[in-house]
Amino acid sequence: MKILFVSSEASPLAKVGGLADVVGSLPRALRALGHDVRIVLPQYDGLESRYSLKTVIQDFPLSLDHESANLNLTEINGVPIYLLENRHYFGTREVYNHDLERFYFFSRALFEMLPSLDWQPEIVHCHDWITALLVMWQKQAGQAYKHVFSIHNLAYQGFFDDSFRYSRELKKQWENLPPGTPPLPYTYMAQAVLRADLVTTVSQTYAREIATPEYGVGLDSLLRYRQDSLRGIVNGLHPEDWDPRTDPLLPFNYSAEDTSNRRFNKAALQRVAGLPVDAEIPLIGMVTRLDEQKGLDIVGQGLDRLLPESGAQLVIMGKGRDNYEKMIKEFAARYPQQAAGIVAFEEPLARLVYAGCDIFLMPSRFEPCGLGQLIAMRYGAVPVVRHTGGLVDTVPPFKAEMTRGNGFVFHEYTSEALRGAVTEAVKAFNNKTIWQTAVQRLMKLDFSWDVSAREYEKAYQRVMGT
Ligand code: GLC
Repeated sequence: MKILFVSSEASPLAKVGGLADVVGSLPRALRALGHDVRIVLPQYDGLESRYSLKTVIQDFPLSLDHESANLNLTEINGVPIYLLENRHYFGTREVYNHDLERFYFFSRALFEMLPSLDWQPEIVHCHDWITALLVMWQKQAGQAYKHVFSIHNLAYQGFFDDSFRYSRELKKQWENLPPGTPPLPYTYMAQAVLRADLVTTVSQTYAREIATPEYGVGLDSLLRYRQDSLRGIVNGLHPEDWDPRTDPLLPFNYSAEDTSNRRFNKAALQRVAGLPVDAEIPLIGMVTRLDEQKGLDIVGQGLDRLLPESGAQLVIMGKGRDNYEKMIKEFAARYPQQAAGIVAFEEPLARLVYAGCDIFLMPSRFEPCGLGQLIAMRYGAVPVVRHTGGLVDTVPPFKAEMTRGNGFVFHEYTSEALRGAVTEAVKAFNNKTIWQTAVQRLMKLDFSWDVSAREYEKAYQRVMGT
C-alpha cells in the first residue's frame, strides 16, 4: 500500500517529544513489510543545510494569503521525506509557535498541492491535531484518499475561538454529530476524529480512557460515537536506534548478557549531575517534557520526604514550562547531594540518564503511550510508573520477587502513592541478585515495532476494504 504520514515532527529532522520517535521509526517498520510509506513535514529553518533536497513542486500558488510553497524531497534511513517549504510560516527553527495559523497553513497547502504530486498515496495517515484540517478538507472535497488519524495526545487539540473561526473560513466547513448530540468543541482535532476512516491512538488503555469524561478532554462523546472505528495500537521502538550495545552516544556500551559497563555510565551520570559518585546509592532518573501531564507536581510535593527517607539520588532532565524548570532547579539547590535538575534536552545526555540510572520514574497524570519506560527497560533501568494509559499496557507490576512483571506501579495520583512505589523500588535495589536478574530480563523484552507495525497494516487493510 502507498501511505503518506503527515506530521509536525519526525526524528531526526525535528523532535520535541515522542511523536518524533514514532513518525521517525514506524515508517521504516512498515516499509520492511513491503509498503511504500513516505512522510511529509514542514520545512523548518535549517533543514535545507543539513539534508540534500530535491524540489518536486516549485512555486505552487496557494489560495491562502497569496502565498506559494515548494515541496522538496529528501531521504533518511530509506524513507522518502517531503518537506513543505514556505519561509513566511516555517522560516524558524521552532516546531511549535503560533500553531493555529502555521498548521492551518500546513494542512491547507498540502490539501491544494497533493493532487499535483507525481506520487499519490492511497492512504493519508495524519498524526495529531496539527494535521487534522487536512482530513477535513480532503474529505469535504471528496478526494479519493482514505484517512487514518492518530491521536498521540488528546490534551493538545488545536483549540480556537469564534474570532479565529470567522477569520479563517472554518465556519461553513464545520460539521457536527447528528442532531440531538451536543455540538463539537472548536478544535482542529474534533473534525479529524469525526471524519477519518479510522482513528487510532497509541495504546489500548488510552483508547479506552479517552472515551470517558475523565480523560476525554471534551471529545469523549465523539470518541464514543466513533468507538467502532477507534483502535489502540501500542508504540514500539526501532531496535537499532535504541541499543545499549552499539549506541554511539553512550560513553560505555553494554548488553543484556554483560551489563558490567553499566556502572561506568552511572558514575559518568553522577559526575555530570554534580552528585556524589557512588555505585551503592540508588539513582532515580527522569527524562521528560516538563509538562503538567508528566506528574512533576507529585514529585515536587513528595520530595521532602522521599529524598531523606530513601537516601536515593534523583536526576531530572527536560525542558518545558517555566514553573517546572524553576522547580527542578530548586530541587537541586535544596538537596545538592541528592538532586540534580538539568534544564535541557540533549540527546547524548538523555541517553546517559537511561543508561546510568537504576530506577526510571514516570509518574504521569495521563500517558497516551510513553516511550521513556520502553527505552529505560532496554537500557537496564527499572521503571516506576503510575497506572495510566500506555504505562498500564507496557509495565505490568512486578510479582514473585521481580521474576514476573516489568516495574513498580502505583495507582493514585498522589505524592504518597508515588513515594510508596519508589520506596519499594529502593528496597528491591538493595537485593542485588534479584535486581540484577530482573534488569537483564527487562533488557531482553521485545519492544520493537514488529507486532504493532502489523496492527497498523491491518488497520490500513481495513480502510482499503481489503
Ligand atoms: C505523546 C504522548 C506520549 C506518546 C507519544 C508518541 O508525546 O504524550 O505518551 O508516547 O506522543 O505517541
